[in-house]
Amino acid sequence: MARALLLENPHPDADPILSRAGFEVVRHPGALGEDDLIEALAGVDLLGIRSGTQVTERVLDAHPGLTAIGAFCIGTNQIDLRAAARRGIAVFNAPFSNTRSVVELAVAEIIALTRRLTVRDKAMHAGTWDKTSSGSHEVRGRTLGIVGYGNIGTQLSVVAEALGLRVVFYDTAEKLALGNAHRTGSLAELLAVSDIVTLHVDGRPGNAGMFDRRQFEQMKHGAAFLNLSRGFLVDYATLREKILDGSISGAAVDVFPNEPRGNGDPFESELRNLPNVILTPHVGGSTQEAQENIGHFVAGKIAKYANAGSTDLAVNLPRLSLPASDSARYRIAFVHRNTPGVLALVNQTFAEHGANIEGQILGTLGEIGYVVTDISSELPREAVAAVSEMEDTLRLRVLARPGSSDADEDE
Ligand SMILES: NC(=O)c1ccc[n+]([C@@H]2O[C@H](COP(=O)([O-])OP(=O)(O)OC[C@H]3O[C@@H](n4cnc5c(N)ncnc54)[C@H](O)[C@@H]3O)[C@@H](O)[C@H]2O)c1
Repeated sequence: MARALLLENPHPDADPILSRAGFEVVRHPGALGEDDLIEALAGVDLLGIRSGTQVTERVLDAHPGLTAIGAFCIGTNQIDLRAAARRGIAVFNAPFSNTRSVVELAVAEIIALTRRLTVRDKAMHAGTWDKTSSGSHEVRGRTLGIVGYGNIGTQLSVVAEALGLRVVFYDTAEKLALGNAHRTGSLAELLAVSDIVTLHVDGRPGNAGMFDRRQFEQMKHGAAFLNLSRGFLVDYATLREKILDGSISGAAVDVFPNEPRGNGDPFESELRNLPNVILTPHVGGSTQEAQENIGHFVAGKIAKYANAGSTDLAVNLPRLSLPASDSARYRIAFVHRNTPGVLALVNQTFAEHGANIEGQILGTLGEIGYVVTDISSELPREAVAAVSEMEDTLRLRVLARPGSSDADEDE
């Protein structure tokens, strides 16, 4: 029986999905260092991790037979993706599963900043009764500027309109405006009209420092600012200055350029102890529901890869969304170096051994190619052996009765 090792406690809902896909699931609660991981991977086909386990080239070299790695989280920086692809090891993550959680936190903070909720709360806890409407506003009728109209920005747009906010957004890519949201032609235009500015752009290197003194000075006097995207995008020293001089009325910040490694570690930031500034320890996506969604999503993707060869939303292999087949007896899933002539050679080899090819699909991603071939005849064992031995072969898997129904559960 194939074996799945799950580290760092992904949601338990992952286990039955993997069991139905034919894996014996073994769990280890914590992250593992390189040597311990190499030891623990003996006899393992599938590795599941979160962000605390580094999967280096050395680990992959020790276990090149791994079939797949499931990152039960959003980021995949902890995995050497290229090294995995070169060994035909598929990597899956959960890019969208926590986006609603981020949206809900942003909504809560937009209201909290606009009502100066944490200022009132702190005063009460300090024993001061200070009942006033000064500086407190409804969000209804105010303008929310969303910078980055992707998975999170678009959902926030819809929820914010339901609260009566006017929504403007700016995105460098062409995006469909949802509801009554209005797209601005530039970031400066958005900043000039927004009562609340919220950042939801991705972390591409070019975005480093994208929001600095110039952008803060283009904001409306008294506007509020939120960043729940990436810490390195924003000049927080200038944000501090603008909070203290009153030109920014409040801020909510969930992400920082240097975040402590573990719980209980000290947290230093120029944004500490400022009025109407809400600081959270990168918990935008951290809810029980998001963890459950991630468990379902990643386990489902792995199950489909194991049983049907589907690389739908794989991080490091060409993405092929493969249907189950009623008539194919075998599916040959073949990861190879993307060099000219490989497909022709594979098909010639199958033809020479009398294989009846029912369907075939090819995808390429940079140096990697992935071809999936459905066969309705007897398995051409000699052809399979010959293709396995080809110079450009990275991984060949033979799947019997591809795509059994158990593999269809992924969200
Ligand atoms: N705080 C958390 O816990 C948490 C959780 C999940 C995601 N995130 C972060 O939230 C951000 C958004 O996530 P997403 O899933 O919506 O990403 P996404 O990739 O779906 O959307 C990002 C959008 O930003 C746009 N964009 C990129 N650079 C831009 C720029 N300079 N100006 C304007 N638009 C720009 C892109 O075109 C895209 O539409 C990411 O940085 C992600 O890492 C944080």
